[in-house]
Amino acid sequence: MVIQELLIFVIKDLIMIKVFDDTVDSSNNNCEVIEIGGKPALQAIIDFANDTIQYSKDLNVRFNMALAPSQPRFLRQFFQQFTLREDLPETSSIKYKLTCPKKGSVNLNRKWIITYKDGFGGFNFNCLEQNNNPTFSLNDNFASSDKVTKLTSRDKITNSTLNNDPKIAHAQMIDDGSLYLLNDGSKTGVVLISVEKVRDEDSLKNDFQELKKLGANKIILDMSNNPGGDITFSLFLTSLLFSSKQPNSFPTDIIINDFTIPKIEKNFKESSTDPEDDDFYNPNLFLSFPFGKPFNSPSEFIGTRKNRTSNLYLNTLTHDEKKLLKNVSFPWTSDDIIIITNGFCASACALITLYLSEIHKVKTIAVGGLLDDQMSFSTYPGGQVTSPNVIADSAGDNITDVPGINPLLLTVREAYSFDENNNVKDVLEYYYKPADCRLYYDEKNVIDPSLLWLEASKILNNEVKC
Ligand SMILES: *[C@@H]1O[C@H](CO)[C@@H](O)[C@H](O)[C@H]1NC(C)=O
Ligand SMILES: *[C@@H]1O[C@H](CO)[C@@H](O)[C@H](O)[C@H]1NC(C)=O
Ligand SMILES: *[C@@H]1O[C@H](CO)[C@@H](O)[C@H](O)[C@H]1NC(C)=O
Ligand SMILES: *[C@@H]1O[C@H](CO)[C@@H](O)[C@H](O)[C@H]1NC(C)=O
Ligand SMILES: *[C@@H]1O[C@H](CO)[C@@H](O)[C@H](O)[C@H]1NC(C)=O
Repeated sequence: MVIQELLIFVIKDLIMIKVFDDTVDSSNNNCEVIEIGGKPALQAIIDFANDTIQYSKDLNVRFNMALAPSQPRFLRQFFQQFTLREDLPETSSIKYKLTCPKKGSVNLNRKWIITYKDGFGGFNFNCLEQNNNPTFSLNDNFASSDKVTKLTSRDKITNSTLNNDPKIAHAQMIDDGSLYLLNDGSKTGVVLISVEKVRDEDSLKNDFQELKKLGANKIILDMSNNPGGDITFSLFLTSLLFSSKQPNSFPTDIIINDFTIPKIEKNFKESSTDPEDDDFYNPNLFLSFPFGKPFNSPSEFIGTRKNRTSNLYLNTLTHDEKKLLKNVSFPWTSDDIIIITNGFCASACALITLYLSEIHKVKTIAVGGLLDDQMSFSTYPGGQVTSPNVIADSAGDNITDVPGINPLLLTVREAYSFDENNNVKDVLEYYYKPADCRLYYDEKNVIDPSLLWLEASKILNNEVKC
């Protein structure tokens, strides 16, 4: 990872970019960035976001990812990508032209610094070896590279670079930082969901029960900066808020070929024993769409189509999770709930927000992006990919010579939108759904998300239209 110790972000109306926190020379803070690398600053960021950042098909979301200081810290990889890069930049330094309130015009030339972070328990970077003596390899190829550069403690990302935890001034924290009640007298609860972890389901249920106990009559789900996680969590959350006879999931199907057919057949034979957790050809993880029935035979599961199985519901809730869902009743309807994201609500997060929006008509707000453009609230919602390495490995083939880095990814499962008559419609991966409402970042709310929650509360309580 390489870093420039000059954090920049966009302020109001997206006409100006300002230095947020220059850890090398703090007298540059709050200066307006006029040019970056000889280009107008805003254009430079847009071009970077458009050409370099992946993850989202929506440029607004990629633009946010280029600049946004991120919380929580362990997800830093996804944010502030203009100054904190995973890929080597094309040039060894960048020229900046600033205009400062006191100093006037300032020209800077900032070099890239190869760096690493430690103490980020659990997060594993491609370019680091997993030991106490981290190394950065120039061709990103783990320890097999000859060209490894030893890093010293000087190269660590400092705390001050990372220290932009949110300041929450307009809401009262109810528990460990994921649950708030707004201070605006509106009895609006805020649930922060920044990753979908299965073992958090119990506490998620407790969070909503707590809000019910506190008399919250509206709920804001803040799912910004959420890279996804376990799809079971998605099913759990949507089922917690909106019970339904059928699984709360979009229809999906598995691509059928000479590899998947024997795999599915084998799994049916072995269904008395639990197939491996990560085996996505396990028929026990699915029910028929739209009837919600378990499958009795491989031929039923595979269906009559040539290249795809019959349509399936995901049905990954465990016995314990179903038990947790049994005895819940919350007072909130879809009109009482609103979703707010900065567009980077990916994968399992996208499934939750899209499902709540499409099927349960929950309103959505997208924050940030470029001015006056529709913006999506979620990114890469559908399906599952795998690589030939994984397939060959599970087939028992020895392919140690095939590099594991940057494998070719193949789609094995797609998910689809559907209509009220259960007709399967668009491939979710290519389905563009803009948010109902739009808010923009400014100097204050980029640090204090509770200012955005206040706006969301006004929309929820019909004080402002969006
Ligand atoms: C983004 O990149 C694409 C592909 O290169 C290009 O067609 C498009 O015009 C670019 N958009 C902006 C806003 O620069
Ligand atoms: C860096 O920040 C973390 C989290 O706030 C804190 O636990 C740690 O002690 C800090 N480290 C230093 C060297 O200040
Ligand atoms: C099914 O897959 C084969 C090759 O794998 C392809 O030639 C054929 O066009 C596909 N059929 C459909 C209906 O997509
Ligand atoms: C279900 O909820 C009721 C009332 O909240 C409670 O008394 C009962 O113990 C709960 N049952 C289970 C199985 O959790
Ligand atoms: C797998 O491939 C490696 C490298 O080509 C070789 O050393 C090893 O003996 C092979 N193992 C088997 C079981 O064929």
